[in-house]
Order: sequence, then structure tokens, then C-alpha cells
Amino acid sequence: MRRTARSVLVSLLAVVTAAGGLVVPAVGAASKQPVATGTGGAVSTVELLASRPAIRVLKRGGNAVDAAVAAAAVLGVTEPFSAGIGGGGFMVIYDRSSGKVTTIDHRERAPFAMHPESFFENGEPLPFNDARFSGLSAGVPGTVRGWAQALRRYGTMRLRTLLRPAIRRAREGFVVDQVFFDQVNGNVAYFDDITTTEAVFLDADGTPPDVGTVFRNPDLARTYERIANRGPRVFYRGGIARAMVQAVQQPPLTSDADHTWRPGVMTLRDLEAYRSLERKPTRVNYRGVDVFGMGPPSSGGSTIGEALNILEGYDLRNLPREQVLHYFLEASRLAFADRNAYVADPAYFAVPLRGLLSEGFAAERRELITEEAATSPVAPGDPYPYNGSSSSGSRGEASVTVERSGSTTHLTVADRSGNVVSYTFTIESIGGNGIVVPGTGFLLNNELTDFDYGSTTHPNRVQGGKRPRSSMSPTIVLQNGRPLLAVGSPGGSTIITTVLQILINRLDLGMTLPEAIAELRLSQRNTPTTLAEPAFLETAEAEALRARGHEFTSVPEIGAATGIEFLTRRLMRAAAEPTRRGGGSALVVNPR
Ligand code: GLY
Repeated sequence: MRRTARSVLVSLLAVVTAAGGLVVPAVGAASKQPVATGTGGAVSTVELLASRPAIRVLKRGGNAVDAAVAAAAVLGVTEPFSAGIGGGGFMVIYDRSSGKVTTIDHRERAPFAMHPESFFENGEPLPFNDARFSGLSAGVPGTVRGWAQALRRYGTMRLRTLLRPAIRRAREGFVVDQVFFDQVNGNVAYFDDITTTEAVFLDADGTPPDVGTVFRNPDLARTYERIANRGPRVFYRGGIARAMVQAVQQPPLTSDADHTWRPGVMTLRDLEAYRSLERKPTRVNYRGVDVFGMGPPSSGGSTIGEALNILEGYDLRNLPREQVLHYFLEASRLAFADRNAYVADPAYFAVPLRGLLSEGFAAERRELITEEAATSPVAPGDPYPYNGSSSSGSRGEASVTVERSGSTTHLTVADRSGNVVSYTFTIESIGGNGIVVPGTGFLLNNELTDFDYGSTTHPNRVQGGKRPRSSMSPTIVLQNGRPLLAVGSPGGSTIITTVLQILINRLDLGMTLPEAIAELRLSQRNTPTTLAEPAFLETAEAEALRARGHEFTSVPEIGAATGIEFLTRRLMRAAAEPTRRGGGSALVVNPR
């Protein structure tokens, strides 16, 4: 098999391109900054290579939606194991001209032929890796339609223009860093089963590209070019669509593949029928500001909103830090119990969203919180009386949240006119379903494992045409109708607690956004133990929480947030991670 991606050793200063031109690697760690303050627009992503083209778009007069699409397309090249055109996402947009917040749902959908037992074999659900590394787990990708819809409704520039930096980056390459290496390395045992994935992402000896070499993806450059030249439809019908269907139905196995890859059922009709949807955001008022998030099929907006409503009953500003954290963990625990029971694709399940976000329901849930840690799983509450319904509807059982490492990426953009984009997109696990679509250079998602695929009755069970429940939580906060901050993160279901913790840090505890992002993280999702970053476990707060009955599981890091806060009407501060996942990149158009 021809190698479509080539990694070559680079000199420290320059790379000779295939065409013989000189490209100075724009990845010098020294120029990647996690905080930037200024005017004229701001961008925060996990990657300087993505933040820079977005800033250029803003400088050329593009708006926040234009810049978000440009950055996202580059991330599809440089963060191919986290997000890309083989997946889906949710974009939350504050549109300055109308003063409204809206959302573009381009979540993947299950092929029409899927059913509640699609992931069952011999009466039992498949183990996670068997479900993930298969054609079955791939949902119909939504990203290309999402970008196109966002631009058509709210952008000012053409997709073909905005894809240019990503095409160039895919063709000229970028320097492999430790995160990229580790993400390939964690998948080698499966990547080397698939001819196309091996060809794109592994070196000739079957190992990941070395740190410090240049990684190029000319097939992805050509795929982007086709979309640029012929529009988003080219992705959903014709050669690219046929290649996707073929890859799903018959994963291209190497002769020495050592795993069983089950075929999926995606068809051309599934791809042609895919539509992204503009939806209303969720909204809660928290201490006088309006917090807008992503509604179902994401559980992000409803779960953060419910937890904030619960927390509003405490004077967090004036409590000792460990007590604040205790209430944060307990509110998260209860909100997750409700999320696990009631949130699914609203086209398939009547989500009692009004009830979940009502202050009455939050007050009822708050009454369950004591000064001791509860024991998970706690049972879901009954939001139906607060939902305007006379009788209680169906619900899932009390359940702990399934622990899975998530990939995903988040970016945040604001322009000089005051438009804001908070955008999270994903291919689900790091490396998606492990299948590069032949000739295209992109990985397919494994988003359908976000269904409760082991249940035939749960609201979030697998059904044909349905979108799996998500935890993605792109968030925008308005104060008096004007942007105050925007934030989001990757991290599977920990996305929700990461965004919630940042909001509390910023809105209640007096931290700046960079401080709120840098703070050590905890994550309680109705699980028997609470995830915590290692340094937190050494603190006095951890000791005090243990005395309240909290038990912790140490994880190296939680999330990789990016955000922007508005210091005045014109002055913005972009913030990214100082260290998590290697640190992010914050830039502004006119630095102060
Ligand atoms: N696949 C990550 C999420 O949607 O929550």
C-alpha cells in the first residue's frame, strides 16, 4: 500500500517542502501562549496552528463563525484523532445583530438500518473495544454540513476560502509532538489492522511517526479541495460517500489483522439524508447572568443548567473552598443522575427539558444534599411535575455514568463586532473507530458508542436515524444581553463537570478565566468515586472532602478547555490550558 502520509526528520529551523519551498515550522513552543488580551477579536484553541489562521480570518474582516470554521478545518488536520470531517459537533453562536444565541447541531446520526440490538452478539452487548473498532460504531458524519450551515446562516466568507489554510497545512505538514505520538501509539494495535489507517498514520515499520518529524496528509488535502471546489454536497454523495459506505460495510483489513472488525450498515441513503439542524440553546439565569448551552441531543446544557440551579441556593462566594467543592460534587452527582435517565435525541424521546431546567426541580434536588457525600448511584428525580406535564413520563434507571476516555476538541472565537462562537466537535474516542476512509485521509467516528448500546429500552438506546446523547458543552454567558464569557472543553462526560467547575470558579470564586481554567479539576458524575487530578489529592481540600465521605480516583488530567472573557465591551481575554494536553493557544487581533 502506498504511503499517503510521510513523516520525515526536520531540521530545527526549517522544512523543505515536497515542492522545494521553505516552510518555517509555525509550531515553535515559545510562541504558543495560553493567555492573550486585546481588541479586534480573539481566538482560543488547543493549537497555535489552528489559532493563527483564525486570527488571519478576523484580520481580513471575517466574523467569528468564519474564523471558527477556518480553525476547525485546521484542527481536522493537526488533531485528527480528536475531531474532523469524519465526525460531528455542536456550535453555539452569539449573533450580535439579533442579540440572540443559537446553535448548529451537526451531531452524527445512526444509519437507518440500526436498531436497539445492533451492538449485541449472542444476546449480549459487545465489549467496548469490539463495538468501537468496527463499521458499526460510525455515525453519519455531520461536520461538513454543520460548517456549511453555520456559514450560510451566520458567516460572511465562503467555505472554499476558509478551507485554504487547512489544505495547505495538510499538504505541507506539521511537526509531530508528543501528544500526536501518544495518540497514535495508544491505537497502534488496531490502526495496523486497517490498510488505509496504517498507510496514513504509521511509519513503514508500523510505528507512530516520531516526535519532531513532519507529518503530511495529502489525501486529506485533496478531500478538503474537493469540498472547497464543489461544495459540501460532494461529501454526502459521489466518490467520498461511496468510499465511506464501503469502509463501513467492509473495513479494509490487512492480511495480518489480529482483531475482528464487524461491518456496519451505513448506506448512501443515510449520507444523502443527513441534515444539520439549527436549534434553540438551553438557558438558565445564574446569579444574574444568562448561561446558554447545547440542548438535546447533548446533555451538556441541561446538566450544567440543572447543577447551576442547584448551586444557586448556596452562597458559594462566602463559603470555605472545600465546602464549595462539596456542593459542586453533590450538585453534579444529582444532575448526572437526571442526565443519565432523561436525556436523549429529542426526535425519539420527549426530553423533559423544561422540568430539568426549572428552579422548582432544582430546589427539590438540593434538598437531598447534606454535609456528607452521597453514595452513587443516586436515583434520578422526577422532573415531570415541573415540565408542564400532568403525569410522569418514562425514564431510565438510576445509573452510574460509563467511564470512557474521550477525545474531542473545543475552540472559542470572538470578533470585533461582538459575535461569539463556542464550538466543540469530535470523532468520539481518540482515533475514532480506527478506520481511515480509503483515499480521503480522514478517520471515521465511533460516535454510536455514545448510545446506551447495551440497553434495548433506555431513552438513549440505539435506533435508526437517531443522534446519540452527547456531553459536549459549548457555552456562552451573557450579562445584560452582552457577551461575558464563552468556554468549552473535550473530555467525554467530564466535559460537563469541567465547564461547570470553570463557570463556578469564574462567576462565584472571583477567578479570572485563565485562573478558572488552570485550577485543579474534579469530576463527579454519579459514579462511586470522584475523578481528581493528582495534585488536588495532596491538598487540604481533598483531605476535608475525604472526611465528608468523598472517595477519589486519580487521573492524570481532566479536559482541555478554551475560552474567552470580555473585560470591557471591546477588550477581550482569550484563555487556553497552560499545561493540560501540552497547553493551548490564545491569540487576539490587537494585543494589549
Ligand atoms: N463523544 C463525546 C460526546 O459527544 O460527549
